[in-house]
Amino acid sequence: MPRDVHFIIGASGQLGTEFALELHRSGERVVLADIKHPALDALRDLPFICLDVRDRDVVAAELKRQGATHVHHLAAALSARGEQEPQWAWDLNMRGLLNILEVAAEHRTIAQVFWPSSIAVFGPDNGPVAEQNGHRLPETVYGISKQAGEQWCAWFRKHHGVDTRSVRYPGLIGELCPPGGGTTDYAVEVFDHLHGTEPYPCFLREDTVLPMMHMQDAIGAMLQITSVEADRIRNEEAYNIQAMSFDPATLFAEIRRHVPGFRAEFQPDFRQAIADGWPDRLDDTAARQDWGWSPTVALPELVARMVSAKSPALEAEPDL
Ligand code: SER
Repeated sequence: MPRDVHFIIGASGQLGTEFALELHRSGERVVLADIKHPALDALRDLPFICLDVRDRDVVAAELKRQGATHVHHLAAALSARGEQEPQWAWDLNMRGLLNILEVAAEHRTIAQVFWPSSIAVFGPDNGPVAEQNGHRLPETVYGISKQAGEQWCAWFRKHHGVDTRSVRYPGLIGELCPPGGGTTDYAVEVFDHLHGTEPYPCFLREDTVLPMMHMQDAIGAMLQITSVEADRIRNEEAYNIQAMSFDPATLFAEIRRHVPGFRAEFQPDFRQAIADGWPDRLDDTAARQDWGWSPTVALPELVARMVSAKSPALEAEPDL
């Protein structure tokens, strides 16, 4: 039987880097695609195609040439950058997804498409906890593109039989690769300011609670939802997944258990309004029931791992 070929678009980004590494380490055949080469040495020798996902002809030709069976489309403009460059963000997020879905509908050799949605599909009318099928009235370009993307996935599933899989990711935090242009980015970039002489200038208020997740669980969710039988996927759009929720004050207090001298100050900017429109947490009962979602990394472990990755000379154990 021919082997699966995993075609990862956005393979040089925050999620793509870690996912490509994980699949490669587990012996899967991967083809990486992005507009920029992977920064990680461990990925440099893998097949890489430099492409822009907005170019439908190139995308179609490469998916065919590489014999892609699974497409993981992880390239996107995030929320904060999207507010500053709305047309660019909309074009990248929507045209890219539509290209993939159309090609998947035409080439039946593509068995499955994974595309990440986001907590950004929810707007301020939801209250602190977003239900699986709660109102989706996003107020950002990024959120609108994710909401529309969910609908497009459902449409291609219904009318063309494309096996689409999706989860609504919260802020993702990992040791390997920084995000870019998101509202939850503070929770990653702070780890590059642990030992500075100046306080870390946090762009959100100290009491801004948002859903967050360690990259190990983000990759785990992707592996899990893409491996289950198709009939386990009962939600045609995207599943809520929840790991932890915290505000900057709580995160920084946990950091201080490892780095007592760490200091931060709060200078909320335009990203505060974006964060204020998002839920504190997601109800992920459906993901747990349908395909067994269960997160593994809680806040203390997340912080210990990030601190030790960013300051290897420091002892990862907190002061008790
Ligand atoms: N991490 C994303 C952002 O902040 C949310 O999904 O834009």
